[in-house]
Amino acid sequence: MSTSPVKVAVTGAAGNIGYSLLFRIASGALFGPETPVELRLLEITPALKALEGVVMELDDCAFPLLSGIEVGDDAEKVFDGVNAALLVGAMPRKEGMDRADLLEANGKIFIGQGAALNKSAADDVKILVTGNPANTNALIAMTNAPDIPRERFNALTRLDHNRAKGQLAKKLGVSVSEVKDLAIWGNHDDSMYPDLYNTKVGGKSAASLVDEAWIKDEYIPTVAKRGGAIIKARGASSAASAASATIDHMHDWWNGTDEIVSMSVPTDGSYDVAEGIISSFPCRVKDGKYEIVQGLELNDFSKERIAATAKRLQDERDAVKKLGLI
Ligand code: NAD
Ligand code: LMR
Repeated sequence: MSTSPVKVAVTGAAGNIGYSLLFRIASGALFGPETPVELRLLEITPALKALEGVVMELDDCAFPLLSGIEVGDDAEKVFDGVNAALLVGAMPRKEGMDRADLLEANGKIFIGQGAALNKSAADDVKILVTGNPANTNALIAMTNAPDIPRERFNALTRLDHNRAKGQLAKKLGVSVSEVKDLAIWGNHDDSMYPDLYNTKVGGKSAASLVDEAWIKDEYIPTVAKRGGAIIKARGASSAASAASATIDHMHDWWNGTDEIVSMSVPTDGSYDVAEGIISSFPCRVKDGKYEIVQGLELNDFSKERIAATAKRLQDERDAVKKLGLI
């Protein structure tokens, strides 16, 4: 076992996602069975009492890899020396709301947290934003952390990726592990685009195995509206699956992956998506660095959908600019 622990910050640690996330990190799901972890848990002051209870439960699990836990409501202190930061803490939407309706209330959180990471995180910090609207919150944090390289800010679209894999595997009656090269493009909102034309199942394009009408009228809307469907059914937004996807994303960013995965990353002009937003792309990760997969062929439908979801992100960016958040 290596001796120095990875310091990982989790914000909103007393919330629903936090309750699923912390125990998996502490058990080794994120950094592997050889790497000790130190948890740095940030909450707002009124939630510190509830967080105390969660910490008691973490203690009671006697996780061999958990080398320490620090808790607080001061972002600069909690983020001191952190190598990974999972920014989950933010209000979830309620039934009937869009995620973008949270921009003003949640966006502010990411000004202070971006600035605090800029001041006190470790030089190698990797930051993943789960709190909604995740892509634009990540943009706000990134803009407020000018000394941290831009590519260290990601947002979560892995939940959409996992949903898209699951729905396709179900339709075709195959295991999710047979679905390859699937990717979500764009924003974590209902404009997101899961591209089945470049997805492979048994070596064939997934789009050739299903009806085009099913892709357009059922599959894409089901994936895009899954978060809302869960809120309707559960009376609360997805939590265990969101925690699992947060682990998947940071796990792959940390450990590398040959598979194509969906990561929301700062745009660099790839596939004609203009710079200045954080958008989901097919990515691979090597040596701790993600790369947007290049050279994929996109048909006209895919190009239209990708442009439309990028436009949503540009509109969100313009809205937070107007609010003075970036
Ligand atoms: P929750 O309300 O159960 O928990 C949120 C926690 O964040 C609360 O404990 C709250 O006290 C804390 N918090 C609020 N402001 C904070 C701040 N400034 N600093 C630190 N902590 C703060 O919500 P949840 O179900 O855990 O969801 C959290 C966020 O994740 C929501 O915005 C939700 O919409 C989002 N989410 C995103 C995805 C995704 O795929 N990107 C999936 C599911 C949920
Ligand atoms: C999800 O996709 O489940 C989350 O973003 C929660 C939501 O508001 O849909």
